[in-house]
Amino acid sequence: MHGAAVSFRNIAKRYGSVVALEDFTLEVQPGEFVTLLGPSGSGKSTALNILAGFTDPTEGQLTVAGRDVLAMPPERRNVGMVFQSYSLFPHMDVFDNVAFPLKLRKVSRAEIQRRVASALEMVQLPGYERRRPSELSGGQRQRVAFARAVVFEPAVLLMDEPLGALDLKLREAMQAEIKRYHRQLGCTIVFVTHDQGEALALSDRIAVMGQARIAQIGTPEDIYDRPVSRYVAQFIGRTNALELLPMGQRRWQLPGLGLTFDEPAQDAPWPAEAAALCLRPEHLRRADGRSSALEFEAQVSEVTFLGDHTLYLLRTRQAAELQLHESRGAQAAPLRRGDQVRLAFDPTTASALSGPVHAASSHTPPPGDLP
Ligand SMILES: Nc1ncnc2c1ncn2[C@@H]1O[C@H](COP(=O)(O)OP(=O)(O)O)[C@@H](O)[C@H]1O
Ligand SMILES: [Mg+2]
Repeated sequence: MHGAAVSFRNIAKRYGSVVALEDFTLEVQPGEFVTLLGPSGSGKSTALNILAGFTDPTEGQLTVAGRDVLAMPPERRNVGMVFQSYSLFPHMDVFDNVAFPLKLRKVSRAEIQRRVASALEMVQLPGYERRRPSELSGGQRQRVAFARAVVFEPAVLLMDEPLGALDLKLREAMQAEIKRYHRQLGCTIVFVTHDQGEALALSDRIAVMGQARIAQIGTPEDIYDRPVSRYVAQFIGRTNALELLPMGQRRWQLPGLGLTFDEPAQDAPWPAEAAALCLRPEHLRRADGRSSALEFEAQVSEVTFLGDHTLYLLRTRQAAELQLHESRGAQAAPLRRGDQVRLAFDPTTASALSGPVHAASSHTPPPGDLP
């Protein structure tokens, strides 16, 4: 516990009967980039605001660099924060906005000059000192907000959906910048987003949030390849969730595909109570006779061309709906609506999970689906 940059222990926050955060335990290592990823209302901002010192938890302990910070005001916690809405002071120019945390900490004038110049250098805005926020683009405002958050060299940098207000192109450019800042500063970052692509692209580890709790913590690869629940499987990326029935002796049935098969030999056996098989659309392919694969028939019901890949919606004779992702340049000719096709997948690429299957992937989990 001592080496952690940030340690949340059993933190809870309740507003009357509303549970905003429950049993939240997370250790962030020095220099690590950890993202809280979840739908709106899952408690992400609550966790960040508790860490920043803007919200008091109802229960639990919180340390930053081994020190208990719960009794400390925000400016003593050595934590910088970037908000979604920039929250720059509109009446102050860029210099004064960035200098603000230093003035609050009674840093000398000469040191303020030096540090503001270096922060603006880092976000590539030298020469903008005398501009007001209203004279900047969205991306420039977000860079100023970033400079202001790092200018006092905080040990931990918090970002709450910092790119949410930007359009897609700018968001991707800013993601690359954030990666560069992280490398350059070497600081610990706790980042919040509801955008799974952003979380996968930026993070060392992701904590997937659902209904005020952490549903899973792991590296982007862990979360994507080995989701622990159907909720996580469906929140991260696209997934086919198929009804799975145990037949005993580690034999299983997929009624939607009309298949019965032996569980593949692998490190971790499927849970005995597994009720769903989650299969990524890119793990499905046209049948090619490979022996380890399971094969079935389906009909194409929808074709969506997405540039570098095509997404097909298919329906089996047993009325299961499936998504198939095919990269451009795959040898076979594109499928068309109404085509009958033989598909295959390797069961070792799928995750068997407890909990019932519901139709089509959704970002709002049914109640009771979280661990
Ligand atoms: N001041 C408050 N009073 C009452 N409920 C709140 C307050 N702040 C947050 N909540 C509730 O707590 C839950 C989590 O909110 P929040 O942490 O803002 O979620 P997120 O950032 O993931 O969208 C939501 O249901 C929200 O309505
Ligand atoms: Mg929020």
